[in-house]
Amino acid sequence: MKVVAIMGSSRKNLNTHNLLEMFLNKYNLKEEEINIFNLKDLDYKYCLSCYGCERTSKCILRDDLTDIYPLLEEADIIVFATPIYYNSVSALSKAFIDRMQVYWTRKFRLSLDPPKEKYGVALIDGGAFEQKDQFLGSELVFDHFFKSLSCKKHTIIEVSNTDDCPIDENNLMLKEMFDGMELDLNKSSFYRLSGGKIQNGIE
Ligand SMILES: Cc1cc2nc3c(=O)[nH]c(=O)nc-3n(C[C@H](O)[C@H](O)[C@H](O)COP(=O)(O)O)c2cc1C
Repeated sequence: MKVVAIMGSSRKNLNTHNLLEMFLNKYNLKEEEINIFNLKDLDYKYCLSCYGCERTSKCILRDDLTDIYPLLEEADIIVFATPIYYNSVSALSKAFIDRMQVYWTRKFRLSLDPPKEKYGVALIDGGAFEQKDQFLGSELVFDHFFKSLSCKKHTIIEVSNTDDCPIDENNLMLKEMFDGMELDLNKSSFYRLSGGKIQNGIE
């Protein structure tokens, strides 16, 4: 199985990075054919809205994403971890996701074959204990991301309260949530740890 994992926090070895590690380790994904990208280490431009992809069916920018596009297209699973910034994904993550516009264009504007069907995973963490619509902005971003990349089924894992209860081995509620987690690539699922409560749902 081919896996692409994307870490969208500028801080290594902290919440988002740890959440991604927990997920990859739980499902032994590091034993698969995996490429892990720390977005902070990559040199890539934000989408310029040049519509080069509409003219050529490819992103015409040349940077570190040029070699990552084929890996995304060939992947069976894409795992994307991001912290919440201002009710949305981090700027690093958003700039990366906007560059997926090439797939949106191919699919919905040029009616070309979509990328092969794959499974999407979004890992989202926020500092606040519990806030109305804390995850909504990020969920909407990932909704378009998943559609663009043909992730028909997906899992979304959300963790709040990292300010007071960081994502590490001492976070017992998070451990409990992970212990009860199931990854079925034929089903979409949802897990949230927020306000001291665990919620989940499987489609
Ligand atoms: C610029 C900025 C904006 C943030 N906005 C939010 C927010 O809207 N909601 C929230 O719950 N946490 C917010 N946070 C907190 C982070 O989401 C939280 O600390 C996260 O776990 C950090 O992940 P990291 O340790 O991987 O950097 C914000 C943090 C920063 C730096």
